[in-house]
Amino acid sequence: MKTVTCTAPVNIAVIKYWGKKDEDLILPTNSSLSATLGQDELRAKTTVAVDSSFKEDKMWLNGKEEGVVSKRIQNVFRETRKRKGNQDSVDGLNQKIHICSENNFPTAAGLASSAAGYACLVYSLSKLFNVQGEISDIARLGSGSACRSIYGGFVEWQMGSLSDGSDSIAKQVTHDHHWPEMCILVLVVSDQKKHTGSTQGMQISVQNSTLLQKRIEIVPNRIKNITKAIIDKDFVTFAEITMKDSNQFHAICLDTYPPISYLTDVSRQIISFVHQFNDHCQQTKVAYTFDAGPNACLYLLEEDLPRVVSLVNHYFPPQNNGLTLTIQGRPVTLQTP
Ligand code: PMV
Repeated sequence: MKTVTCTAPVNIAVIKYWGKKDEDLILPTNSSLSATLGQDELRAKTTVAVDSSFKEDKMWLNGKEEGVVSKRIQNVFRETRKRKGNQDSVDGLNQKIHICSENNFPTAAGLASSAAGYACLVYSLSKLFNVQGEISDIARLGSGSACRSIYGGFVEWQMGSLSDGSDSIAKQVTHDHHWPEMCILVLVVSDQKKHTGSTQGMQISVQNSTLLQKRIEIVPNRIKNITKAIIDKDFVTFAEITMKDSNQFHAICLDTYPPISYLTDVSRQIISFVHQFNDHCQQTKVAYTFDAGPNACLYLLEEDLPRVVSLVNHYFPPQNNGLTLTIQGRPVTLQTP
């Protein structure tokens, strides 16, 4: 038996991907940009194995065997086998693959678990099959946002223009250590599985949200401006674009018919807290962003972390929810000076 084990962190988008123009190849309606967390933080850990005795492809997720190996995983297998390098020990075309993957955080709760999971799977398979060169396009076939977790630091998923998807790949905007003062605080509002998955949500938004069509025109300029802000370490511009983009994404969800509503009252209290805090400081010090779920990711600089954490603990006290700590909300009233 030959096995490979890898880990891959989640990424948190500051310019969101929402909408596909090709469902099979997972080609997006707009480019997107994210930061990949560190290896010790929210991450997936995956072991892949091949052996001539395996009768079928199998997968275990968080210790439970999955009924069927999904079409997306089959697409990833097919593409990886196609690009298999020279290696005598693995008969990539015929041997069946076993996958065992676990996340150290709630799965499918809007915390980019599929991004970390597919990036980790594709990276592990590429080592097993000795695949050379670009692999972010293989990760994209599993889950669009997964292509960004192939790299560390700030990463752009360039939507590309070719119909075979070969130029729809991730590119590193800055290396892992470019902005070491930047912190991401994840506030877990709920660890429950989201009610509308991103695949289904995007499909309906593409079908009937007129705002989504407008967003396609807006995103290129946003990507240009936020890339400059990241390179210049201009936190204020970075934070404002991040918050506006999160708000626009959730506006599109509400503009979708029937509407999709991922934010909860606690999420909205967090938004209010961040704006009140920024007003109080008379400067934008914290940015929020929410994916397809109620959980908040706050971007802030290290110097502000102690103050923000203590205020968050006060207004959003953690409660032990079995396996994870989720937060409760309280009315937030910060005095403006
Ligand atoms: O890659 P998916 O299908 O899980 O979609 C992710 C979509 C968002 O998380 C909402 C935005 C993004 O760019 O990560």
